[in-house]
Amino acid sequence: ALLGIDLGTTGVKAAIFAAVDGRPLASAFVDYPLFHPRPGWAEQNPADWWQATLKAIRSCLEQGARVGVQPSAVRGIGLSGQMHGIVLLDEAAQVIRPCIIWADQRSEPQCRWMTGQVGAARLIELVSNPALPGFSAPKILWVREHEPELFARVRTVLLPKDYIRYRLTGRMAMEISDAAGTCLLNVAEGNWSSAVLEAIGLDPALLPPVVPADAVAGTITEEVAALTGLLAGTPVAGGGADNACGAVGNGVVRPGLALVSIGTSGVVLAHAEAPHVDRSGPTPRIHTFNHAVPRAWYLMGVTQGAGLSLRWVRDYLGLPERALERWTDLDAYELLTREAEGAPPGCAGLLFLPYLQGERTPHLDAYARGGWIGLTAAHDRRHLIRAVLEGVAFSLKDCFTIITAQGLQLEQVRATGGGAKSPLWRQIIADILGVELAVTNASEGPAFGAALLAGVAAGLYPSVEAACEATVRVVENTAPRPELVTLYARFYEQYRALYPALRTVF
Ligand code: XUL
Repeated sequence: ALLGIDLGTTGVKAAIFAAVDGRPLASAFVDYPLFHPRPGWAEQNPADWWQATLKAIRSCLEQGARVGVQPSAVRGIGLSGQMHGIVLLDEAAQVIRPCIIWADQRSEPQCRWMTGQVGAARLIELVSNPALPGFSAPKILWVREHEPELFARVRTVLLPKDYIRYRLTGRMAMEISDAAGTCLLNVAEGNWSSAVLEAIGLDPALLPPVVPADAVAGTITEEVAALTGLLAGTPVAGGGADNACGAVGNGVVRPGLALVSIGTSGVVLAHAEAPHVDRSGPTPRIHTFNHAVPRAWYLMGVTQGAGLSLRWVRDYLGLPERALERWTDLDAYELLTREAEGAPPGCAGLLFLPYLQGERTPHLDAYARGGWIGLTAAHDRRHLIRAVLEGVAFSLKDCFTIITAQGLQLEQVRATGGGAKSPLWRQIIADILGVELAVTNASEGPAFGAALLAGVAAGLYPSVEAACEATVRVVENTAPRPELVTLYARFYEQYRALYPALRTVF
């Protein structure tokens, strides 16, 4: 058996899978708080992550034992995690301040400064990505500028899941697919960019060695064994960034495959055999990151408010009494998507912009805002909800279009994440992207991909591709409907006209 741990934004999941076929055997989730000390800021306490991880491992092992899987059966452990956050450690490896996480937008001025220091074009040459407030380097620079006394004590910078691996094994390392999101890694070569570090005056000694995703990066310590019930000496793999692990868990590990993920944010990513950079505009609008598959990369577009938009509808538009009476056994999201089925494709001219949290791809605009446009007296709740599903899908199409323009030939797109559970939303996405959407047997999200990486590290599979071959199967397909593809192509043009027209208002 293999243990996968996914350190997410709302909580941590630990799950055990059978190595032979990837079947989930046990799973536990423990949540932790997210702090917003100011609007646009987002921080978490690494100590909360650590306590929650211990609890999730213990509870998952207890469940496993109940179905006959003993801790000694766990041959390897893999970690997946939220990207980009900075864990700052002092000389004694103690955490100096709360982690500034991926969602934090405070470091826009540091992005501008960093881009000026390195040179915009040279930065792309060196790290394949522009400086964005989501990424790690600008967050480190913010601490250096605003908290110099704290910064003076920093000896090591780790990423969220790499910090957890350090606590589990006592060894400090940054795994490559996660290191790619720091804006300090030479993504094409897979090592720290001394040119960028020098240009922004950061000491290379702050960064630990870069390690592969699918190799052993340490083993469980005696202390952790005593705290969790895991066996001391169990190998822990490098693991991967959550998006990379999501791709591995869905078998998106070879050319021609792409993944659409609808979580809080929405992601479209495609496997790539070379570090292609989007050169269609002055700044790349999609990210180019190292994959958790050796010598492979992926191109990724991120829409900030995917599931977030539907959650907003759930929380603030509420559910009609009538629906609650009729469908008491359904959850809120199922109720909402059933209502949406009552509106026609295109919502009779109603469009929705999902920029509730600004937007990354394609606008790279933290100040973009969301809303419904085209409302008439003839529209009702059903149109409002369906327009949200369609607006998010249009935004995913923006990501998809830029990715396919890089010359990648895509043969199949796989859908994952909470939003992909809705058949209506999957159909809308298939119609709007104009491609078939496949769903795999992968359950438990990125924790599964992390477990597969652990399986490779522990020698149970010869490669990541072989691990996917053994365990991942497509179980369902949603085909695009030709007449709707044509119809939605027209509505997409209207959608695309909105942001440029509204930009000055935002
Ligand atoms: C990717 C990103 C998010 C986080 C979420 O660039 O910022 O998808 O990885 O956990």
